Amino acid sequence: MVQQVLAPGPQQRHDLDANDESLPVLQDLMQRYGDTCRVTSVSGAHDSLVIHNTDDIRHVLLGNRGNYIKGLALNRVRVLLGNGLMASEGELWTRQRRMVQPAFQTQVIRGFAPMMQRANVELMERWTDHATRGEPINLTRDLSELSLNIVLRALFSTDLERLIEAQGSSPFDLLTRETRRDLAFAAQFRALAHLVRAMIASRRKENRIEMDLLSTLMEARDRDSGDPMPDRALVDEIMTLIVAGHETTASTLNWTWYLLSQNPDVEARLHAAIADSVALRPEEPETEIAYVEQVLQESMRLYPAGWLLSRRAVGDDTLGGYHVPAGTEVFICPYLLHRHKAHWDQPETFDPERFTSQAVEARDRFAYLPFSAGPRYCIGTTFSMAEMTMHLSMVAQRFQFQYLGSEPPLAEFQINLRTRQDLHMRLVAR
Ligand code: HEM
Repeated sequence: MVQQVLAPGPQQRHDLDANDESLPVLQDLMQRYGDTCRVTSVSGAHDSLVIHNTDDIRHVLLGNRGNYIKGLALNRVRVLLGNGLMASEGELWTRQRRMVQPAFQTQVIRGFAPMMQRANVELMERWTDHATRGEPINLTRDLSELSLNIVLRALFSTDLERLIEAQGSSPFDLLTRETRRDLAFAAQFRALAHLVRAMIASRRKENRIEMDLLSTLMEARDRDSGDPMPDRALVDEIMTLIVAGHETTASTLNWTWYLLSQNPDVEARLHAAIADSVALRPEEPETEIAYVEQVLQESMRLYPAGWLLSRRAVGDDTLGGYHVPAGTEVFICPYLLHRHKAHWDQPETFDPERFTSQAVEARDRFAYLPFSAGPRYCIGTTFSMAEMTMHLSMVAQRFQFQYLGSEPPLAEFQINLRTRQDLHMRLVAR
């Protein structure tokens, strides 16, 4: 019988998870053991395998995806989001993904462009007042409010305004006020689900269909049974979209403005690309500016919001030539993969030239995973790229940001990769 060799790893035990303690451990393991490393959990109950080789990553996310379910790091997410797309598995996930996917088609997202534009105009009006008074802004907080506002308007359109009118403020503001994502937050957040149920009930009663994601999801039918989503599933999907759609986009934009403030050459190039586009298409200058997308892609290379992906092997497998017993937790770390010397020259340098179409074609597709890959890739990819491209091109036409911190911001590695402190910026009108 062929001996089944396990991957090498340290004697010392670790509980790897999406938290600050895990990143230095992952960095150290990569240095000592390379692309495949096995770590035993503190209790000894299970082994984890950390993989950085793109063939293995492709195998887990795509080739042999049936053998991998969402892993340990998802347990906390499940408490918050129930059985929405992010956390569900098997037949439930397949059925739900098929029903939710049409709501994220490019055509539908194009319909949100005027709303996204309005949200940015409102924000820039406030920023103009700040600039006039010479007051700095709390960029992190403002971007968090912007992206929450956009995802809520995409989901609920007019019902959101009604809710704000009735309650005096948006009850969903909790998401920007409270940054911890612990059990206490989960309880408060789940309490918001009753508002969503009330919106669903009132639309049904009034037989009202709006041009928003809520109506699209209420109208969706299972292609085999013809049934709509059960209410419980509908609410879980909505709550998932609020959280998944808000924090990731806000922190990506936050890092992007910081990186631009530190890289004047890239900033100047961005301004020139936008000016060219305005000259070419005065009616819709914000659409499809390749360099704006490159800037965002490079920012997500350095600071991918989903910095650690986890899966669990259901059956035995082989990765990196090593035996992977069923039950092994498999970790893929886009943060380290995006700095891997095999794929990236001078990985710490912010250089959007890495994302010209030629450069992308020449690189292994699985060396860059800000939205993951395979069937469970981010359903909001097009939505967030549209939102971020519009924001960046509208704002860069009017303002430049000067970072006011004395030290570079520290990163916080939790479920999302945020700045540890809010970024304060001085606005310079252009
Ligand atoms: C910059 C913005 C975003 C980034 C970097 C991002 C990143 C990701 C990543 C890495 C995953 C895969 C997680 C895993 O495999 O464990 C994911 C899944 C997901 N994302 Fe996003 N996301 C972004 C924006 C959005 C938006 C705007 C929405 C919705 C409005 C959204 C909804 C989802 C959902 C529902 C899933 C689960 C998909 C499934 O498993 O079928 N995301 N996202």
